Amino acid sequence: MQRDGRPVRRVAVVGVSLGLHLALIGCSGSSAPRVVDIDPVGPTVIPTAPPPTEGSTSVTVAPSSGGPPATTGSSGRDREEVSRSLSVGDRRFPGLGSADLDVGHYDVALDYDPVARVFDGTVTVSLTTTTTTDQLAFDAESLDVGSVAVDGTSRPFLTADRELLITLPTAVAAGTELVVDIDYRAELDTTRRFADDAGVFVTAGGFWSVNEPDGTSTWMPTNDHPTDKATWTFVLTVPDPAVAIANGELVSSESASPGTTAWTWEQTEPMASYLTLLLVGDYDLVDAGTTASGVELHHAAIDGSTSSLDAYTEVTLEQFEFFEPLFGPYPFDRYGLAITDSTPGLAMETQGLSLFSSGDLDGSLGALQHLLLAHELAHQWFGDAVSPATWDDIWLNEGFATYAQWLWLDEAGFGTVDEFAADALAALPDAGGPVGRPDELFGAVAYEGGAIVLHAMRSVLGDEAFFEGLRTWSAEHADGAATTADLRATFERVSGRDLKGFFDTWVAAEQRPDRYPDPESPA
Ligand code: ARG
Ligand code: ZN
Repeated sequence: MQRDGRPVRRVAVVGVSLGLHLALIGCSGSSAPRVVDIDPVGPTVIPTAPPPTEGSTSVTVAPSSGGPPATTGSSGRDREEVSRSLSVGDRRFPGLGSADLDVGHYDVALDYDPVARVFDGTVTVSLTTTTTTDQLAFDAESLDVGSVAVDGTSRPFLTADRELLITLPTAVAAGTELVVDIDYRAELDTTRRFADDAGVFVTAGGFWSVNEPDGTSTWMPTNDHPTDKATWTFVLTVPDPAVAIANGELVSSESASPGTTAWTWEQTEPMASYLTLLLVGDYDLVDAGTTASGVELHHAAIDGSTSSLDAYTEVTLEQFEFFEPLFGPYPFDRYGLAITDSTPGLAMETQGLSLFSSGDLDGSLGALQHLLLAHELAHQWFGDAVSPATWDDIWLNEGFATYAQWLWLDEAGFGTVDEFAADALAALPDAGGPVGRPDELFGAVAYEGGAIVLHAMRSVLGDEAFFEGLRTWSAEHADGAATTADLRATFERVSGRDLKGFFDTWVAAEQRPDRYPDPESPA
């Protein structure tokens, strides 16, 4: 929960200016400098990669968009189309992802050297090809790749334009299962600030991470797009006495080389790469029991902040009981709060273990703490279980989490949804692009603008169809990724109404209406 910088609208909640607080860090979201405003593109295709040489030759390959797919050689059999995708064609991030492969599992082993501030990494990727291809592309920014093997055999590769390109001995058909081992080093850039980047951020005692939208490929080769979810194993080896944390269940912590411990975390539920969490530092791991619905709670708290946990656990338990009837069963088997030494004003819905700052969850329990806890928990349904199929669909994450936060603040007595919705509509600037394609990834149009759309939809459909729509949405797209068009289809099916006019007016239009639909005579 970190907003693009600019004087953010002030949503006053019992006198607390949350907008101001959340804007404390000011500064633009990580994506801002990288957003390329171009027309929708198909997957970027390299016609022919230069013959790679053994080892990590760095060649600049200018990806050419469009153009005919490459074909191999000249023999008849090889004339079948061979795909060499460098992306999945996301308008905002034309370079991210690869349309040729579907990752099933990542096995990530990272040795952290806190003096050199380097990860010595090995990633084993189990994947299935989705096209006929003679090349595999992973997102890899500034990674120093040492060797690559496919199914146990060393393969030539090159790194170029934030990609790792691996040449297969021959084109393989769609549906081929491959295991790729990649050895690499990642130097952590200690000058990077959360303000302009996503990835890993070094602290005195270790590091924390926020990887939305494209930070994961700065520390491991990955298919870095939410359309490709996978299960994950993380083995993090760090010097004693630091504790290393990632998503999922802690399955072991064992002495490795003298003075170091290897921490193994298993994420067995499908997870998008931007939802990974890596934390290293002086952490306590706290088992906080289970929710009434049977979801295990496991927290992590940086030194000195464990005493805050009881109060926040209590609120989280109440939020589960409030949200589950509205949104459907919690989509994962565990949840927890990670109270970290990250930047105050920032929170992130890292899957199964949301990240907060000890500067925000500081032991107090006011509107800000309620807001942050509600927002990140709601993201587990909206964002994590159902992920955006393109980054233009970011309102499906942020608008939904913001609306859920209004619902909870109302429940907890900090104001009413109607008030929050009216204030947000009045405060939202005309500029900023359509909700369905906002100028800023983490700005007011995606957050409050998205929540406004939901409030308008609720007044058009009525509570019953609206909440039934939310539950259907989270059930039918769980573990997947979906678009705004998919949302419209869900709500049309559930309500039996044609919502084209509504979506055109509230989601696709450059400017939003200045008043909510009248439930008696909806637009
Ligand atoms: N998804 C987070 C939240 O709203 C915000 C992440 C912001 N990320 C960024 N790179 N600025 O809860
Ligand atoms: Zn959010």
